[in-house]
Amino acid sequence: MSDKQCDIGFIGLGVMGSNLTLNLADHGYRVACFDLDQNKVDAILAQDASERGDQPPRVEGCNSYTELLSKLKSPHLIILSVPAGAPVDHVCHHLIDAGVQADDIVIDTGNSLWTDSVEREEQYKGKFIFFSTAVSGGEVGARFGPSLMPSGNPYAWTRIEPVLKAISAKVDPNTGKPIESYAPGKPVKEGEPCATYIGPVGAGHYVKMVHNGIEYADMQLICEAYHIMRTAFAMGPDEIAHTFRQWNQGKLNSYLMEISAEVLEQQDPETDQPLVDVILDKAGQKGTGLWTAVSALQVGSPAQTITAAVFARSISSLKDERVTASQQLAGPTQQPLSDAAKTQAISQLEHALYCSKICAYAQGFQLMATAAKEHGWELDFAEIAKIWRAGCIIRAVFLQSIAKAYEQDENLANLLLAPYFSEQIAKYQADWRQSVSQATLNGIPCPAMMSAISYYDAYRTAVLPANLLQGQRDYFGAHTYQRLDKLAGKKFHINWSDPARPQVAIKK
Ligand code: 6PG
Repeated sequence: MSDKQCDIGFIGLGVMGSNLTLNLADHGYRVACFDLDQNKVDAILAQDASERGDQPPRVEGCNSYTELLSKLKSPHLIILSVPAGAPVDHVCHHLIDAGVQADDIVIDTGNSLWTDSVEREEQYKGKFIFFSTAVSGGEVGARFGPSLMPSGNPYAWTRIEPVLKAISAKVDPNTGKPIESYAPGKPVKEGEPCATYIGPVGAGHYVKMVHNGIEYADMQLICEAYHIMRTAFAMGPDEIAHTFRQWNQGKLNSYLMEISAEVLEQQDPETDQPLVDVILDKAGQKGTGLWTAVSALQVGSPAQTITAAVFARSISSLKDERVTASQQLAGPTQQPLSDAAKTQAISQLEHALYCSKICAYAQGFQLMATAAKEHGWELDFAEIAKIWRAGCIIRAVFLQSIAKAYEQDENLANLLLAPYFSEQIAKYQADWRQSVSQATLNGIPCPAMMSAISYYDAYRTAVLPANLLQGQRDYFGAHTYQRLDKLAGKKFHINWSDPARPQVAIKK
């Protein structure tokens, strides 16, 4: 490969970076690579050599930022896969020192905070075009087709679009199911690409952040179903895995359901116990679920199932305290189930999981809509649902129905109001209520399912007790209230300290 012949420069060859590089190579792009760790550069060259057979090298290793730029066709296209935060700016500054030009494009693919992307576009204006694309799908997605959420300068997008659409996951538009191939050198070319331009800079990472919030909720809901089956229905990991596999044939078909079954079937090679029984029950988190919850609170969009999922991870981390409390705090006596009752309860739980999942997605889409209004983004929710049908962690058949709902009504205020979803919940709500009640009566925590049902009930309630709440606020803080029978926006106040104020006569 001669100088200036590479199409793309790639910086950061961790798990995601090296897989994205090989994905680009599979699609015919010549990639110049750089990482501060020379071993990683050597590793990708070796991987390319083993995958390309007798074809010429598709990947070229570089020792410096300057060397990387020297190998690229102009204007340069450079992709970063480095940890979110300071490392992104560190690389950007090195690229400036190495001579990156104003019309060169630098694409951040990390799990960056969306406001950082907004600041970076401004900060690097005139030095190069800062663009970002959020990536979902983990290492396998990165290698064989992730879901991509690009946003930023529209001119840059016209240059990047063919690359990102090529390497993204593909979906069968009719069934909404992923078209997958996990064979190096044989990428999927047919089907609809799971990459769409989301909007101005920051919008893509915002959407990815909400994707992760939904991911947290989806995972927590599955874990709650597992917990209920394990504790209240006395089912073992194998039996639960079998049930998950059955559910995965229906409306709950999803990647997360599939991998949950696989995790439950895994044996611990050391003890021959189910692996799940030796994994410490303390959940980690890198922060994107928390960002979603914070953003929901900031813009005032109800996302309690997502927030509950974040807090579920927090309480899980209090392992020592929970162990102590388990010996001190009373709970109910668990009621054993007959075989017939268990069969019925499992079916109810499937519906409870499904209804809760609808609410989690409704919250995520509602949050994106609220944020879009606030930031002046025009988000296309049908397209967003479509690019999540393959490649990403929350990929599920279910997203086809969400895409349809927004195609039928692009101004849909809430997914719950889409005829398909309102009918589904109407059909299954009794089972949902039954499952959540049963869990509570047995003392099994199900914060995400419970929050989902409360969200549903609050959303369908015309008069909430916020009238009393406004009265309380007016009482102690003179915060005023509005009236149902007067013009909206007009404020009223009662002089609560006046003993002569009129009061409702108590009827005896
Ligand atoms: C994805 C994932 C990915 C990742 C996050 C969440 O879409 O590919 O969401 O971004 O798994 O790092 O991880 P935590 O659970 O550690 O927050």
